[in-house]
Amino acid sequence: MGYKLSIINQKGGSGKSTIARAIATCYATAKWDVKIADLDINQSTSFEWLQRRLTNKIEPVVAVEAFGSANQALKQADNYDMFVFDGAPTASRTTQQISLESDLVIIPTGLAVDDLKPSVVLANNLTKEGVDKERICFVFNRATGSDSEYQEACEYLQQTPYFLIDGRIEDKPCYRQAMDLGRSVIETRFKQPRDKAEKVIQNIINRLETLIEGA
Ligand SMILES: Nc1ncnc2c1ncn2[C@@H]1O[C@H](COP(=O)(O)OP(=O)(O)OP(=O)(O)O)[C@@H](O)[C@H]1O
Ligand SMILES: [Mg+2]
Repeated sequence: MGYKLSIINQKGGSGKSTIARAIATCYATAKWDVKIADLDINQSTSFEWLQRRLTNKIEPVVAVEAFGSANQALKQADNYDMFVFDGAPTASRTTQQISLESDLVIIPTGLAVDDLKPSVVLANNLTKEGVDKERICFVFNRATGSDSEYQEACEYLQQTPYFLIDGRIEDKPCYRQAMDLGRSVIETRFKQPRDKAEKVIQNIINRLETLIEGA
């Protein structure tokens, strides 16, 4: 049986597809058989990104498939070493279904209370629906701001029972440009932002490994 990750947040533009593509790229580079399940059939962000990736001949190839429902996607999940659900921008039954099935649920959020608060509410709702709180984590994306703003946002999330992934991915044109070309944020040409994004993604992987080892 393979591992499953869900990247969710009812807030549009928080970085679900961004984090999904970066994690999938990381595992594909390590030669895992990985697939992104794009559950947002209205936008198909990850699926279209794959088309750009193929057009620009970027290695490794990352498999992406669009699915109309969680059930359809879940049927395929165990055919892969790693199955990454790129969630749709609604807190739907689909979100609940994939979260319940996942080894790790990742909620990308920005630094503002406007982003933090609904992210925590989402996590609380998932635990009420039966998702193990240990399996839920927050990751900062598009988190540009002063150190004190970052610190305050960390403190806000540290008061919750959920894990906070160390580090932050800031909002940078080089990340956007990378994704426009079919790359992920860990494949931007610029070393410093690439290293920063890589660290965050590695911390997500470390969290998953800790949970698997403890299971
Ligand atoms: N760290 C970042 N720096 C710069 N641009 C970013 C960053 N993260 C995401 N973006 C850009 O912001 C937009 C939204 O990101 P993304 O598609 O990952 O969010 P999403 O949560 O999947 O959105 P949706 O809810 O619409 O599916 C995209 O145009 C993406 O290129
Ligand atoms: Mg998306």
